[in-house]
Amino acid sequence: MEKPYVYVTRRVPEEALIPLREYAEVNVWPKEEEPVPLQVLLEEAKKADGLFTMLSDQIDAELIEQAPKLKVVANLAVGFDNIDVEAASKHGIAVCNTPDVLTDTTADLTFALLMATGRRIVESAEYIKDGKWKNWGPLLLAGTDIHHKTIGIVGMGRIGSAVAKRASGFDMNILYYNRSRKEDVEKALDATYTPFDELIEMSDYIVCLAPLTDETKNMFTENVFKRMKPSAIFINASRGGVVDEEALTKALAEKEIAGAGLDVFKEEPIGADHPLLQFRNVVALPHIGSASVETRYDMAKLASRNIVNVLRGERPEALLNEEIF
Ligand code: DGY
Repeated sequence: MEKPYVYVTRRVPEEALIPLREYAEVNVWPKEEEPVPLQVLLEEAKKADGLFTMLSDQIDAELIEQAPKLKVVANLAVGFDNIDVEAASKHGIAVCNTPDVLTDTTADLTFALLMATGRRIVESAEYIKDGKWKNWGPLLLAGTDIHHKTIGIVGMGRIGSAVAKRASGFDMNILYYNRSRKEDVEKALDATYTPFDELIEMSDYIVCLAPLTDETKNMFTENVFKRMKPSAIFINASRGGVVDEEALTKALAEKEIAGAGLDVFKEEPIGADHPLLQFRNVVALPHIGSASVETRYDMAKLASRNIVNVLRGERPEALLNEEIF
């Protein structure tokens, strides 16, 4: 019997592909950092039974319609705003992601970004490397405390809860906003559910971990930044699309907030001329939330298992469109 055909859109650890190669004929776009050109992806999708995709690949209705054999799209990310799940469901295609395995790693990075922004770590490291350290001064590169401050977490899913756990270790006062109440987190970590409008006014650190959806798109508007404390620090480790970047640029330029730590941007990658990079109080990272070697291996293994499961007719571990199974 002919093996199913799976296309992997980026070079990933070969070890993670072993179960996939046993079951399917696998072809891999050979570059690690350069994305597969759209034309190549479209050609591959036409003949593929499975696609192993990255968050930078757009799997839209147009591509899905041109992929008659496609049975599964497995994204190497927990976020899946790059995939038209509705169109996939219409064509009976399973869409899978990589939750759980990246929760702690992404929470670590989010908290590191919060600390780096609050305590001016990157600026301080650059200062010394640039040979600027001539004298010690009482307020030299003084930042903002983290312990005993109020953190407002927007999006209390798995990663939000793991960030709350870290915040609890720093004796922070934890507020959160989410579509639904999380009573387990409230009990375990003394977190307080707070309506969004109040949370943005009360928090010293506003941390966005909400997925990008029609509801959350551009939820951080000019008006939202205006209502934050002038000492507030905004952290975004979800998707750039949740923020009106022009509004954030304006808020920083007009000192309406004290700083921002950003792991994600609306259009990625960004260049050095991006307006948000002009501010010394912005810590910017190239979307590395889940980027530890261990976690990226685990994510790749889970994506492979998701594909093999679907091609075998079994329910995959991390299925997003339940209705098709
Ligand atoms: C994800 O998995 O969606 C994260 O953004 C990766 O860092």
